[in-house]
Amino acid sequence: MALTITEFRARKGSDQKLALLTAYDAPAARAVEAAGIDAILVGDSLGTNVLGYDSVVQVTVRDIAHHAAAVARGATDTLLIADLPFMSYQESDRQALRSTRRLIQRGRVHAVKLEGGRAVADRIRAIVAAGVPVMGHLGLTPQAVHQLGGFHAQARDYDSARALLDDALAIQEAGAFAVVLEAIPHELGRVVTERLAIPTIGIGAGPACDGEIQVLHDVAGWNPDFLPRHSQRFGDSAKATTYIVEQYVAAVRKGEFPTAKNSFKIAKKVIARLEAE
Ligand code: KIV
Repeated sequence: MALTITEFRARKGSDQKLALLTAYDAPAARAVEAAGIDAILVGDSLGTNVLGYDSVVQVTVRDIAHHAAAVARGATDTLLIADLPFMSYQESDRQALRSTRRLIQRGRVHAVKLEGGRAVADRIRAIVAAGVPVMGHLGLTPQAVHQLGGFHAQARDYDSARALLDDALAIQEAGAFAVVLEAIPHELGRVVTERLAIPTIGIGAGPACDGEIQVLHDVAGWNPDFLPRHSQRFGDSAKATTYIVEQYVAAVRKGEFPTAKNSFKIAKKVIARLEAE
């Protein structure tokens, strides 16, 4: 049974941590749901993991809505969250509501996620007032990669750690149901988790968070050349797929596939007539 937002929030401080993953298509979503995940994020990491973009800033609302709809067809009984991509909510409340509408109506997700703290508190308020649950995202916010000067850990001195805490409190106050904390010191993840009444979902923020989110392609070993420090491979899908394809190629080359069991029926007399012509 899909977790409701109320049940998700109630897992704050619980012994049973929330486990979230990304997914970007129907078969992956089906597999992730079958494993009992608590929620699926159709993240803008879609751009770099699946669409071959250089960066998440190239991802559009159309991209996310298209892939979210596929995820919703694959995972029919899981809480689904979609990223509001770069520049789809920064302009105005109106723009944020329009983008949210597309993700909910076309993408068929239940909630949206957006990056930023106090600067986006009004956007969160507007989306929540429209009846849509919002997840925040603080720390290393990939849509701001150029401003942050690259992908590295955030909030490591007092001023930036204090700012992150204030941002977290502001988005909680604006109505966010949870917040992702990305690439911050584990001790800070613990402090923020203790101060907030909403669940914190870490990705490189330590074990004290109320839950964890990871990119499916990282944990499943789809990126053989790269693994972020905050992640871990729990299997090697790339290697497994290469092995499977090798078996297929060998079977085709040796004439071992296809076999009689792959054939479709046709009356013998039809073939006899064709052969006689
Ligand atoms: O897009 C993404 O994958 C994310 C992470 C938090 C997993 O935002």
